[in-house]
Amino acid sequence: MDFDILRGEGAYLIDTKNEKYLDMFSGIAVNNFGHANKQILKIIEKQALKGIHFSNYIAHEPAVNLARLLVENTFASKVFYCNSGTEANEAAIKLSRKYGKAIDENKIEIVSAVNSFHGRTCGAVTLTGQEKYSNAFMPLLPAVKHFIFNDIESLKSTVSDNTCALFLEIIQGEGGVIEVDREFVQEVVKLSEQHKFLIVIDEIQTGISRTGDFFAYEKFGLTPDLVTIAKSLGGGLPIGAMLVSQKLENVLLPGDHGTTFGGNALACAVGEYIVGTVLSKEFRTELKEKEIYLSESLNKLKMKFPKIINLVRGRGLMFGIDVGDYAEEIKSRALEQKLLLNVTSSTVIRLLPALTITIDELNEFIIIFERVLGALCGKK
Ligand SMILES: Cc1ncc(COP(=O)(O)O)c(C=O)c1O
Repeated sequence: MDFDILRGEGAYLIDTKNEKYLDMFSGIAVNNFGHANKQILKIIEKQALKGIHFSNYIAHEPAVNLARLLVENTFASKVFYCNSGTEANEAAIKLSRKYGKAIDENKIEIVSAVNSFHGRTCGAVTLTGQEKYSNAFMPLLPAVKHFIFNDIESLKSTVSDNTCALFLEIIQGEGGVIEVDREFVQEVVKLSEQHKFLIVIDEIQTGISRTGDFFAYEKFGLTPDLVTIAKSLGGGLPIGAMLVSQKLENVLLPGDHGTTFGGNALACAVGEYIVGTVLSKEFRTELKEKEIYLSESLNKLKMKFPKIINLVRGRGLMFGIDVGDYAEEIKSRALEQKLLLNVTSSTVIRLLPALTITIDELNEFIIIFERVLGALCGKK
């Protein structure tokens, strides 16, 4: 992008010329509490004075407190910490393989969806069902297969008794903000029982209340075996985690897997604050109000500009606006008007504003966005 950022402030970024830009994608769903959040800064300072890193040989308060919060509020009984989303998925790949091999030496296949995104390390990029991310790095991880997202027949023909795990995004973020169908999830559960494979839900983008629920899978009444998280958990500090169900808590043993920085005290201290806050009733109520406002406003714009907006989809504060070939032009025109937009899948404007954004700021977004669409219409 053609400007130099000097600093961030809430839902805005400010450049070296002191121009203010409304940030509608928050570092791709990382800065969910906005930029330079005062409470987060306080926590960082307080924790840094006590210690930044202690190593995973030593139990420490921030790591234990965050793990407790995650365990008490989810299906999980254990938490593994790492530093990013891709690493959380690597941990899940290793756990799944070890789980499968303990049952049968051929139970090593991992399946994931075409058009998914699970990260860029060699294992995770193999699961990422988009060749543009992996073609240059062949050969990749063996025994990985892809099914077509939301296609039950494709799913059925991809899994077997040799499948040890299925990785799934509830809403494909990079793939264009596309949600999984309820019937598809039901089939996943049925097949996992039949073939005894693990269900691994990748909530790296959707987790920690991005979609309104603490986790996007909750809407489907599903109990996953593993969930991977990262992005917003550290409020901008790098952290990832794998949530592990009770039946799997002794699959990976000490020495099987690890990471030096995982469970870093600073990131965990912030994580505890973030998780505690998003779970509060007040935060959830406000988030719902913002969701309703944004969803209604976007749908009004869709009615007003039917030639530009094909579809609006999403929930919580994660929306995709399908604008076909107009996407890049809209993004650059918005930038001229000090509005930062993200385009994914070439045709979709993906909105991932800070969850702490105010209704007034969302209104500001709608006003600028409407102006951009209006100017585009005038041109055509
Ligand atoms: C659904 C999903 N999984 C995994 C990843 C990889 O996370 P990271 O970039 O932190 O490695 C991302 C990143 O965009 C993601 O959206």
